[in-house]
Amino acid sequence: DELGVVAVGFSGGQCKPGVDAAPSALIASGLLTQLHEELGYKLFHDNTVHSYKDLLPPSDPDYRGMKNPLAVSAVTRKLSEQVYSHAKEGRCVLTLGGDHSIAIGTIAGTAKAIRERLGREMAVIWVDAHCDINTPETSGSGNVHGMPVAFLAGLAKEEREDVFGWIKQENTISLNKLVYIGLRDVDRGEKIILRENKIKAFSMHDIDRHGIGKVMEMALAHIGNDTPIHLSFDVDALDPLWAPSTGTPVRGGLTLREGDFIAECVHETGCLVAMDLVEVNPTLDPGVNDLGAQETVRAGCSLVRCALGESLL
Ligand code: ARG
Ligand code: MN
Ligand code: MN
Ligand code: MN
Repeated sequence: DELGVVAVGFSGGQCKPGVDAAPSALIASGLLTQLHEELGYKLFHDNTVHSYKDLLPPSDPDYRGMKNPLAVSAVTRKLSEQVYSHAKEGRCVLTLGGDHSIAIGTIAGTAKAIRERLGREMAVIWVDAHCDINTPETSGSGNVHGMPVAFLAGLAKEEREDVFGWIKQENTISLNKLVYIGLRDVDRGEKIILRENKIKAFSMHDIDRHGIGKVMEMALAHIGNDTPIHLSFDVDALDPLWAPSTGTPVRGGLTLREGDFIAECVHETGCLVAMDLVEVNPTLDPGVNDLGAQETVRAGCSLVRCALGESLL
């Protein structure tokens, strides 16, 4: 099978430096080699960790409360074209972030390609401690990594082309094809958005109640058989025990096995069209001697391998 790989060293969707170092760390730990040599993928990768320096404006004042609006918009716009160019060839696309704002680009790119290629609307499985569905107006932080879903689903709109106005109908997803898994830190305004739009969401509470097996059954049933799936995996969905090196850790999360299981179930559908792995920040290490960073990178690699079929017997 063919796999497009895009490495995105971008951190402008939030305020902590270092999340841009994740793609290099993931690749250095052997991820792409494993995907090729052990899982047999034909990789399409430009061997570049993109930092999009040429797209970053000299000055980028807040707009509607958003931080780095011009930079995040320009980078995600460019990324959407990169992802689209893989997906339109029928390749599965793996994007290594970067903070979660980059999902604006990846999902905009796959949504368009899947519409054109298959005449279908794809589903999104968003695995995260957070639901990242703030609008600029509901956000308390102004960090765009807390807003990608709002822009992708058309809840947040903006006329200005240079501030996400480039997102067209063809780039969007519908809220009834979105499923969250792992939520445990949802802002007040976001809860209202989830409720008013009847968005399917499995919190940690639901996982404790039903078990991850049943939750995955329900999540996939909601999406429906042979619907193309974009899996957007924020490493902070995992408990900080397994993934401490991330910008907004929240205790009480998924075990590494639960995370891997989610990825395996998505693989088993045969419908995976793209995966994002985001929010690994190897420079944030609450432990000693980089152990936490190494563990987080290892966990991230494991999630990707599982989504791409590693555990097939
Ligand atoms: N809800 C908070 C915010 O809007 C936190 C978002 C965290 N997002 C993430 N991708 N880690 O700022
Ligand atoms: Mn690339
Ligand atoms: Mn998160
Ligand atoms: Mn996130």
